[in-house]
Amino acid sequence: MMIMNDPLEPRPPYASRVLLAVVTEPGQTNPFGTLHGGVLLKLADECGAIAALRHSGRGRITTAAIDSMTFLGPVYVGERLEITAVVTYVGRTSIEARIEIHAEPIEEDQRRLVAVGYALYVALDDSGLHPRPVPPLLLATDAERAEAAMGKARQEIRLMRRRQALERGTATGQARSNLSG
Ligand SMILES: CC(C)(COP(=O)(O)OP(=O)(O)OC[C@H]1O[C@@H](n2cnc3c(N)ncnc32)[C@H](O)[C@@H]1OP(=O)(O)O)[C@@H](O)C(=O)NCCC(=O)NCCS
Repeated sequence: MMIMNDPLEPRPPYASRVLLAVVTEPGQTNPFGTLHGGVLLKLADECGAIAALRHSGRGRITTAAIDSMTFLGPVYVGERLEITAVVTYVGRTSIEARIEIHAEPIEEDQRRLVAVGYALYVALDDSGLHPRPVPPLLLATDAERAEAAMGKARQEIRLMRRRQALERGTATGQARSNLSG
């Protein structure tokens, strides 16, 4: 007899935690010799996406929002970067991850937090077009419960921003058609 795992069985945050380590390279800097913020954003998104994929268990995900990414200090060429992502809040089809980036000189033991933020991913079905349900988040500690409650509040703000962006898009389209009409 084959034993099937329930794909929607709740999963704890530690089960999908991701740690990614890279060394920064000369081509990644701005004219002032420090790392482009966009390089950090890309790494943050990749790491968060892997955590979300692990939580969802299978299939595809897409990034719906990256918000409140705060850069706390510069990163220099040749430094080691450590990016961690942990799932903090889960909706029906959406997964939020907190992403932290630490930098460290290659030959010194001086690890420092350089960026922190949140990203929101949506699981997609096999067609890649429609959202797909994901396992709930199994919360075991007060800290995890508090983070999930804050994640729910952050999600409400994201959805408000999305509504506003869609309204602005509609208003801009309407203004264009009025001009050309
Ligand atoms: C994200 C996307 C799949 C949502 O599809 P949709 O048909 O609008 O789906 P829904 O409105 O049913 O939303 C599905 C889930 O995503 C969440 N969501 C959708 N857009 C969101 C946003 N901008 N911010 C936060 N959450 C969002 C919804 O709250 C919902 O979560 P829940 O099921 O956990 O309650 C769609 O907007 C999309 O494809 N966006 C572009 C993504 C992309 O291309 N990313 C890469 C950028 S290069």
